[in-house]
Amino acid sequence: MSGAETNATTDGTRADGARRTITLAMTGASGAQYGLRLLECLVAADIDVFLMLSKPAQVVIGTETSLALPGRVSEIGAFLTAHYRARPGQLRVFGREEWSSPVASGSGAPREMVICPCSMATVGVIAAGAGRELIERAADVVLKERGRLILVPRETPFSVIHLENMLALARLGVTILPPSPGFYHEPTTMEDLVDFVVARILDQLDVPQRLMPRWGLTTG
Ligand SMILES: Cc1cc2nc3c(=O)[nH]c(=O)nc-3n(C[C@H](O)[C@H](O)[C@H](O)COP(=O)(O)O)c2cc1C
Repeated sequence: MSGAETNATTDGTRADGARRTITLAMTGASGAQYGLRLLECLVAADIDVFLMLSKPAQVVIGTETSLALPGRVSEIGAFLTAHYRARPGQLRVFGREEWSSPVASGSGAPREMVICPCSMATVGVIAAGAGRELIERAADVVLKERGRLILVPRETPFSVIHLENMLALARLGVTILPPSPGFYHEPTTMEDLVDFVVARILDQLDVPQRLMPRWGLTTG
């Protein structure tokens, strides 16, 4: 399905009237398309997004997509806001050492965070509780606050270290959601494959989506 329709009418606002905010981090694993499409869908669903990009993620975005992302963090927010037609203030981008940002502390961080794509390096750091950059600290915060942390880890094949790190995190309640598209929806484009994975992430976040028909149901 084309476009970023998520069929969302109310999910941008929480029951208490506050805006819903989700933290999205992209790290330097292959699959930048997944993270960017997820960002597009969250913006379309009227959800506020706190975004972080690791330095390798910026390299991967440059390698795998045609997006001419500015290098400076201070310019990335404005660029992506225009690109995805976000509301003013809907999308905030934080730098690698922006310790004054809300995601750095349990008192300010959203309780929902997705790392998409997630490198094995970042998986390892989070599993070890050894975060030094803001993305890793933000994940550590969501873990300690017992929020919802979703990792979209990408590597193939996995080593025993990778698998053990992911198992350790899964046992802590982290959702390990590998970008493994099914083929039963008969994809014909790369976008179809990307949307399969992004739809599963949105389902985990309880964000209504109509990216593709649901198995056994006639409507999305
Ligand atoms: C084009 C490109 C693709 C990469 N793909 C992967 C990958 O699929 N999985 C992975 O774990 N690392 C991958 N890497 C290596 C990571 O970027 C590297 O380990 C980096 O240190 C991760 O740092 P980060 O987690 O802070 O982004 C890739 C690097 C590049 C440049």
